[in-house]
Amino acid sequence: MTPAPRHLLDVDEWSADDVEFVLSDAARHAGNLHADTLRGYRVALLFAEPSTRTRLSFEIAARSLAAETFVIEPSSSSMVKGETLVDTVRNLDALGFDMLVLRHHRAGTPWVAARYFGGAVINAGDGWHAHPTQALLDLLTLRQAFGGADQLRGRKVVIVGDLLHSRVAKSNIWTLTQAGADLCLCGPKPWLRGLEASPVTLTSDLGAALRDADVVMGLRVQRERMAGSALSLGEYVERYQVNSVRLQLAKPGAFFMHPGPINEGIEVTREVARGPRSLVLQQVRNGVAVRISVFAALQPPEPRLGGEPTQTSSATRDFWSAIR
Ligand code: CP
Repeated sequence: MTPAPRHLLDVDEWSADDVEFVLSDAARHAGNLHADTLRGYRVALLFAEPSTRTRLSFEIAARSLAAETFVIEPSSSSMVKGETLVDTVRNLDALGFDMLVLRHHRAGTPWVAARYFGGAVINAGDGWHAHPTQALLDLLTLRQAFGGADQLRGRKVVIVGDLLHSRVAKSNIWTLTQAGADLCLCGPKPWLRGLEASPVTLTSDLGAALRDADVVMGLRVQRERMAGSALSLGEYVERYQVNSVRLQLAKPGAFFMHPGPINEGIEVTREVARGPRSLVLQQVRNGVAVRISVFAALQPPEPRLGGEPTQTSSATRDFWSAIR
């Protein structure tokens, strides 16, 4: 029997069994779960970068499992007085938190935090690097859309936009290729830099990318990254915006996805983003389900400050025993 994972830093550090547990468990309860699994556990949510979907869904998920949640706003914490991230994490550890959900603008910070934190660290997005729970919820959404875990094999999935700066794309490259999808990354050449070694197709030709696609995933154009870029925002819209005319190149009924936040009218038109083939809000809904199951997968054996023993984690434990 392999031990349960200690942290979720990125999806490529988890075994296929760990990923399968989360996806199957999330599909089963679909986010409609109120259990005592984490009663007595304390979860710190440290978001050093803005977030709507990820932060709220982690908080809903933790509370659904009866955990006590504590949101740390960097702007009102001692970080503004110069306390380092390491010192902040050491203090959260001393305060006895069981789990730390961390979003940070610097790539690699969750790995650093994991060295100084005695409980479980969950990466909620680090710099341009990784966003593991987004990749898991995207995979669940695609399984649901195509009707099964094995239905992604050979499907053409196109990710369009600012791949260079996208942590979502980096984690999705791993999960989607593991799932057997035929992955195509499309964007202006400078935004494909560093991805040459990936086992995927790279192209700057959106028409070629969209041809026969089963899924098109847009990425936010990070306007702040356009400064100094050879491409203006207007040129980007002209060449890369996903609109209903361009979507006709894809397979009939192709799905549109986007991790959010969306700039409607920039990387995608409102018509597509809110249209009948859009999975965007299903992705958001699945965020709660997946994060509930991630907490269940990482649950330490006992609360660090000796809270009540857990009541309802037996279903989770039975599942683990069955698959290991
Ligand atoms: N998808 C995503 O990470 O959205 P937020 O930045 O709102 O959390």
